[in-house]
Amino acid sequence: MSMRVAWIATAVLAGVMAVWAAGVVADSPLPLHQWVAHPRDSWLLAHGENPNVVRLVLPPEKPLSAVAHLGRKLFFDPALSGSGKLSCASCHSPDHAYAPANDLSVQIGGGDLHQAGVRAVPSLTYLYRQENFSIGPDNPEDESVNLQQLAVSGAQAPRARKTARSTLAAAANLVPKGGLFWDGRVNTLQQQADGPLFNPLEMDAGSPATVIAKLESASSAHDFVQLFGPGVFRDPTLAVSEALFALSRFQIEDASFRPFTSKYDAWLQGHARFTSAELRGYLVFNDVNKGDCAACHLDQVTRDGLPPLFTDMQYEALGLPRNTAIPANHNRGDYDLGLCGPYRIDLKMQTQYCGMFLTPTLRNAATRHAFFHNGVYHTLAQVLDFYSLRDTAPQRIYPVGRDGKAAKYNDMPAEWRANVDVTDPPLSHHLGETPAMSKQDRQDIIAFLQTLNDGYSVAKH
Ligand code: HEC
Ligand code: HEC
Repeated sequence: MSMRVAWIATAVLAGVMAVWAAGVVADSPLPLHQWVAHPRDSWLLAHGENPNVVRLVLPPEKPLSAVAHLGRKLFFDPALSGSGKLSCASCHSPDHAYAPANDLSVQIGGGDLHQAGVRAVPSLTYLYRQENFSIGPDNPEDESVNLQQLAVSGAQAPRARKTARSTLAAAANLVPKGGLFWDGRVNTLQQQADGPLFNPLEMDAGSPATVIAKLESASSAHDFVQLFGPGVFRDPTLAVSEALFALSRFQIEDASFRPFTSKYDAWLQGHARFTSAELRGYLVFNDVNKGDCAACHLDQVTRDGLPPLFTDMQYEALGLPRNTAIPANHNRGDYDLGLCGPYRIDLKMQTQYCGMFLTPTLRNAATRHAFFHNGVYHTLAQVLDFYSLRDTAPQRIYPVGRDGKAAKYNDMPAEWRANVDVTDPPLSHHLGETPAMSKQDRQDIIAFLQTLNDGYSVAKH
């Protein structure tokens, strides 16, 4: 995609001679000339240092507002749930980058704590710059399209089979972007929270009236009245919306949701050195012919000095294997198709988006125990194998049928499999071809991904 590679063009400065780097990268000479124009910069990079040290523009540190304090109490309060046992933190654990502590693909919730969820629980970190959901041209100068208009045109147009990238069909180069949840179906953290709160598979809190009854007897009742006035509990809908507002303020204000304390942040600012594996991983991550991960998981500081979030906030259909560990997947004809449903309903007719899910941040991804929207993988090694082998050796990724053929993209109905991204490397290699990444490349990328975990202490190194 043009915009995606644009930064690479700026980052890859005119080449000088390849530096047969000594020291830390002696074991594999790296094509550093692609990265830095000046021999001195090559030397720095070869020694694991960032040749282009920046000062990151981080969100200002402020004490929590009173509403955010209340939000924090609610976030950790199991009393709100139908079971009385689940709080937001049960699935979004602060010690695990606000993702689950266990390695289940989907979490268990509901009033009886017997209901399995349908999607992997995302981290709640680094959502502070998440844009509202929109569908617009890749060129941000142009106006984005009204979802309603799009739905109408989608319903009228004969639905030719097409991929999101085909320029033939109308609305084809319109890129969905932003939003919360794997399918972007809500925009704000406030709107978002009533999802899990009332979702029968999650906190299953019942009606606003039951929630209010619980809030009134909860330890936070006093704060509630102080903040919103003595009448607050008389109007359940209003009180619930204040509670959701408080939850969103906690997530927006508390620095633990965007600490920027990773080794990579330190490296960007010249306070840390990559090991040779991390450096090689960083280069493969950015190499358009190998990992090309940065095409979607943006890793460069923005022009305004904002730290990278490792997502372009766009949607892709990666064609992941079906996860049989999700009970909902035992219904053979049911598919989770992301943007086109079933949990999001407004884009049902936009079948060119079927199978597409939001690109998540990779910050703290190395601390996760379940990967992708369906949590089908549990280690980064499996994730990297998927990116490398999906089309080159599909029999290692998908179940193999009696005919000896791999059931490729088996978590989507056949008619929408053309939406799967087969153009962006590393997903552009075909059956039998050499994978875009060697085994060493994959291991190195994992080493680099570890540098995205928060909690790196500069002093120690
Ligand atoms: C039983 C587990 C569970 C509980 C409890 C839970 N969530 Fe979640 N949360 C999820 C799942 C699963 C998703 C992804 C759902 C989807 O994409 O459809 C999610 C998504 C989110 C997101 C969107 C994140 C993103 O990257 O887009 C936010 C924000 C969120 N939850 C906040 C909360 C809050 C606030 C609470 C408490 C009121 C809460 N959650 C309770 C499971 C849970
Ligand atoms: C074409 C865009 C694109 C490229 C290129 C890409 N990714 Fe992704 N990545 C995504 C999308 C979209 C998802 C979520 C897909 C889903 O869950 O259905 C994702 C998910 C992930 C996840 C799971 C994170 C989580 O929280 O579950 C990891 C890890 C990951 N990518 C790593 C990589 C690495 C490493 C590379 C390079 C080898 C890479 N990605 C290349 C788009 C991309």
